[in-house]
Amino acid sequence: MTATVIDGKAFAARVRAQVAAHVARLRDEHGLVPGLAVVLVGEDPASQVYVRNKGTQTVEAGMQSFEHKLPADTSEADLLALIAELNADPAVHGILVQLPLPKHLDSDLAINAIDPAKDVDGFHISNVGLLGTGQKAMVPCTPLGCLMLLRDHHGSLAGLNAVVVGRSNIVGKPMAQLLLGDSCTVTIAHSRTKDLGAVCRGADILVAAVGRAEMITGDMVRPGATVIDVGINRVERNGKLRLVGDVDYASAAAVAGAITPVPGGVGPMTIACLLANTLTACCRAKGLPEPDGLTA
Ligand code: GUN
Repeated sequence: MTATVIDGKAFAARVRAQVAAHVARLRDEHGLVPGLAVVLVGEDPASQVYVRNKGTQTVEAGMQSFEHKLPADTSEADLLALIAELNADPAVHGILVQLPLPKHLDSDLAINAIDPAKDVDGFHISNVGLLGTGQKAMVPCTPLGCLMLLRDHHGSLAGLNAVVVGRSNIVGKPMAQLLLGDSCTVTIAHSRTKDLGAVCRGADILVAAVGRAEMITGDMVRPGATVIDVGINRVERNGKLRLVGDVDYASAAAVAGAITPVPGGVGPMTIACLLANTLTACCRAKGLPEPDGLTA
């Protein structure tokens, strides 16, 4: 079998277009412009690239982008003061504090200082609890993007066996909650799981989010399964730096029914879902109808 390639790049473009169309309606009918504030502390090069891309795509969707770049030696008090200011700013509907923060800053403290209604990352402890109890939450962007791709491919996910490999707070755990919310039978596996291959072979839906290059190989994939690769790993091949996922694409694609490539799979969905979450947060703040198909 040769797997269907799930084109996350094209899907993300459709999500961004849907967000932009809804934002244009908000502006025309309500004089409302959703605003996203991104806080970057320090000069981590990868974070700078992410933040620049977020800003560009926010503006392209017709929303306001507020970038706050703080020096690496910013104090906890100054960071918390900025977050309090953004919480109180009516032009800001979404707040994202770029992670990782410099070591002297407590990321839990910063994230939990964000107004949960503006927490477009879905990392605030209130949103984690709301998601875990099946209530309306702000949902982390990467797992939300994976869920959108899966719903688009399968229609209903009810009754399917889902295995999530990885137990991070940002991807693995919320992904499992979302799949449970769509009535999958969910297993969370990780690097210490016994006979990981056998566990993975039980999956109709296999989500790889372990952060280890090409760890999931074709022999771990059930024939016909849908494989979602969240990994982004830089490896050296033949003297060149290449981007690979947590899945060994060639061997997995020979067995799977459908698979996301790296790059061009899950990656582009993350910022698309951040824009969707910002729009959702704005609609909720104003008591307006939420966009269809862009929330869990
Ligand atoms: N750093 C890398 N990815 C993310 C993300 O999705 N959100 C935040 N806040 N920081 C990140």
